[in-house]
Amino acid sequence: MLFRSGYQGGNQAIELDSAKLEALIAQLSGEQAELAKALTTSSAPTVLVVLESDEQSTSTPEVYLKLQLISHRFVKPHGIDLSGMFGLLPNVAWTSKGAIDMNELGDAQLSARLNGEVLEVFSVDKFPKMTDYVVPSGVRIADTSRVRLGAYVGEGTTIMHEGFINFNAGTEGTSMVEGRISAGVMVGKGSDLGGGCSTMGTLSGGGNIIISVGENSLIGANAGIGIPLGDRCTVESGLYITAGTKVQVLDDQKNVVEVVKARDLAGKPDLLFRRDSIGGAVQCVTNKTAIELNHELHANN
Ligand SMILES: CC(C)(COP(=O)(O)OP(=O)(O)OC[C@H]1O[C@@H](n2cnc3c(N)ncnc32)[C@H](O)[C@@H]1OP(=O)(O)O)[C@@H](O)C(=O)NCCC(=O)NCCS
Repeated sequence: MLFRSGYQGGNQAIELDSAKLEALIAQLSGEQAELAKALTTSSAPTVLVVLESDEQSTSTPEVYLKLQLISHRFVKPHGIDLSGMFGLLPNVAWTSKGAIDMNELGDAQLSARLNGEVLEVFSVDKFPKMTDYVVPSGVRIADTSRVRLGAYVGEGTTIMHEGFINFNAGTEGTSMVEGRISAGVMVGKGSDLGGGCSTMGTLSGGGNIIISVGENSLIGANAGIGIPLGDRCTVESGLYITAGTKVQVLDDQKNVVEVVKARDLAGKPDLLFRRDSIGGAVQCVTNKTAIELNHELHANN
């Protein structure tokens, strides 16, 4: 449940006992009060998170709220301070009976078995799957376990079984995602990620350039990018461009005009990257056929 208010009292996570919950209900009106009243019926611990300013989180509930704000599309990836979050997120068993503390999992499994029930553990992770908490409008997600809480899934996006979206990453709008969108990577409207392709994250050994994909671009199947890609670009299927990859830039007559590092072409529009199948050099030519989305394939309803 998310409230907006004119509160000025610093960022806090407050455990609500019944007295504090009643006090909160008294401060709210209309739909918000009704939602808060519903909390009184819950036997689960209730925590109120109030954020006055955007700064480094100091508690686990704060991080969970921020991840939800991104998945609800209230803020874009990179639009909220997630620094220090890993140290605050515990490893949790996300199960068919909800989130279970790792120390309590063995007992919970045993008691489920004793009752003839199945306690399914979907994942053991710091992040739950997004759709257990937020399902944004106008999306198709073939395998919900492939999208973590904190993903930003734009209206009109389809994520096929092979597609993946990490936290603080996602799509601006209509996209067909059959590849991996790593943490921190944002994909522009109308761009497609081919089957099994990779966008390089910055969390481990990926350098410090924030990778992004412009609008109406295509990363081919099994291809990958370690540079931000501009608008209307295509990367040939199977070609991985890292920032330091030496690239021959060709003119319309297929003459090599210059050799540059791929990072020098970062963000430039209308480029087609391919590996010359005879000589093996990575080449860049003008992309004359910007992709046209297959509208039937992208229909989300
Ligand atoms: C790179 C790519 C876009 C080129 O496709 P295209 O623009 O249709 O180009 P074509 O295959 O028609 O080839 C045009 C010319 O370039 C040549 N060519 C294409 N790729 C080449 C390569 N890697 N090395 C050398 N020559 C190449 C062709 O032989 C052809 O030569 P010609 O003019 O002598 O006939 C395409 O091969 C590709 O990889 N698409 C990605 C599709 C994809 O993965 N989608 C996601 C599905 S999940």
